[in-house]
Amino acid sequence: MPTDEITAAAAGSWTLGDRTVHRMGFGSMRITANPDRERAIAVLRRAVELGVNHIDTAAFYVSPGGTLRVGTGPARYATELIRAALAPYPEDLVIATKVGFGYDPATGFTEAATGAQLRAQVEENLRRLGRDRLDVVNLRLGRGPGPAPLVERFGALAELRAAGLIGHLGLSGARPEQLDEVAGIAPVVCVQNNYGVDAYREQDAFVRACGERGIAYVPFFALAGTNRERGASAAQGAAVEAVARAHGVTPQQVRLAWTLHQGPHVLAIPGTGDKAHLEENIAAAALRLTPEDLTHLG
Ligand SMILES: NC(=O)c1ccc[n+]([C@@H]2O[C@H](COP(=O)([O-])OP(=O)(O)OC[C@H]3O[C@@H](n4cnc5c(N)ncnc54)[C@H](OP(=O)(O)O)[C@@H]3O)[C@@H](O)[C@H]2O)c1
Repeated sequence: MPTDEITAAAAGSWTLGDRTVHRMGFGSMRITANPDRERAIAVLRRAVELGVNHIDTAAFYVSPGGTLRVGTGPARYATELIRAALAPYPEDLVIATKVGFGYDPATGFTEAATGAQLRAQVEENLRRLGRDRLDVVNLRLGRGPGPAPLVERFGALAELRAAGLIGHLGLSGARPEQLDEVAGIAPVVCVQNNYGVDAYREQDAFVRACGERGIAYVPFFALAGTNRERGASAAQGAAVEAVARAHGVTPQQVRLAWTLHQGPHVLAIPGTGDKAHLEENIAAAALRLTPEDLTHLG
């Protein structure tokens, strides 16, 4: 596809609360892996040029250290790179971030237990992004019961939302029953979980359930799958390879198209620090799979 025809808008739109976004978005964790600040900034600007108006981030996306634990040299915060690349922000840009976990180079990761700790994480995001309100905040849940009851932690964020510091709330790393636990405290506009064509397919029913409740489902690691922070694997699986060959596209594009075919409420946030990969990924917004392709992919 010629690069001047690539647009995230080709994926269609979804409304998160009162904010409408293109279903093809961008995940900013990987840009911290790029030691070249100007190249990282260029990737972010190119994403927006290509119609991306939904960017996922977190204050703990920082290298070296942070989630990816890569590189050397001065800290590269995804949130600060977003600000450097895009502020003053386009009106239609929705930046989704996450709290619940915090990262400090001196002490490592901590899980927030109290309202004061969550507020500090919200304020860190506001400061690094240079905003006075966060569009979407996901409460990142760990695998265990957590340091404090979910209703208390979500309730603390609902108070910050009522105070105007947050536009909309979501959950990440969530289980279906947790949506019921927080029902009535504040609306959940999105669930952000690990999911892909060949990863964590036990989530299928939850993906459908979110759609039935009008909640966006935002898979992370749609390309990396079970490889997670290690990144995309060279081994793509025979079905993904076959469908890619049939359409004359890359396996990564098939993975993203499959993601978008899981429902109108499913939003893609592929991550990359590479401009060519970015363009390839956004081009997948226009890729339509056939019912036979979807059966083949399983
Ligand atoms: N809620 C959570 O707990 C959570 C956890 C993790 C991530 N996230 C969010 O989800 C986003 C997506 O996750 P992710 O960025 O780790 O993984 P991903 O989008 O599944 O895959 C990224 C990996 O694929 C490679 N890649 C990207 N496009 C490619 C292409 N066209 N061809 C070949 N390789 C390609 C990237 O390397 P290159 O950089 O070399 O392209 C990187 O290794 C993150 O950026 C973050 O915003 C959320």
